Amino acid sequence: MRCALLPIQIDRLWLKARHKPLLRDISVTIKGDGITVIMGPNGAGKSLFIRCLHGLSQPDSGAINFAGTPLNSDIRQRQALMFQKPILLKRTVQQNLAFVQSLRADILMADIERVLEQVGLRHLAKQPVKQLSGGEQQRLALARALLLRPEMLFLDEACANLDPASVGQIESVLLEASNRGQKIILITHDIAQAKRLADDIVFLHHGQLWEHSPADRFFTRPASEQAQAYLDGQILI
Ligand SMILES: Nc1ncnc2c1ncn2[C@@H]1O[C@H](COP(=O)(O)OP(=O)(O)O)[C@@H](O)[C@H]1O
Ligand SMILES: [Mg+2]
Repeated sequence: MRCALLPIQIDRLWLKARHKPLLRDISVTIKGDGITVIMGPNGAGKSLFIRCLHGLSQPDSGAINFAGTPLNSDIRQRQALMFQKPILLKRTVQQNLAFVQSLRADILMADIERVLEQVGLRHLAKQPVKQLSGGEQQRLALARALLLRPEMLFLDEACANLDPASVGQIESVLLEASNRGQKIILITHDIAQAKRLADDIVFLHHGQLWEHSPADRFFTRPASEQAQAYLDGQILI
């Protein structure tokens, strides 16, 4: 099954703050199923870019179309975004998911069981969130996002600072979701993770798009000097 929000067509996107351009004339089309990874040094504009795709930041000009339709509230509801620091209710794991269920008539108890199983938290269902490790909290945030069955999932450095077991668990859930036809767009600084997950790479630097390449090409023969320098650990702010 293919994500019905594809392709994403981004055309001449500009975003400025106090006259300083933060996203500069970005045009790119993301067509493919699978996992798109956004890379680039700190301050490149990666977070702003996906915030624009999810409607959390407003570009000054340019167009963003999902399968030919400009971003609107219906499309936003079909997307989910996960941050590095999840915002969770100060209750149990189960109660965090039950809260989401209470907002949506189409989510069943069995769906909660399924996502808990997927992220490996079933045994911690009754545990208060404040007693979870960072990795467990992030897996709960992922379970919550999956419960909404988003057609498109954005992750902004969602695996930063997690232990390898949690990272592995999150990656396998993302690969499964991708195989089911959910479109995943993730920001990471972890080159090994990008190599494990990415089908294609969008590389940003100083608010500009330097390249959009298939992952194998990006890692072996990047098209831009900037990307090569970044991969060599030479960049750059
Ligand atoms: N609301 C804002 N107002 C002014 N500058 C901002 C704002 N948000 C982000 N920036 C700046 O825009 C640049 C890109 O930010 P960001 O997208 O967070 O970078 P990245 O996620 O690639 O590290 C940074 O220099 C940041 O300081
Ligand atoms: Mg960021």
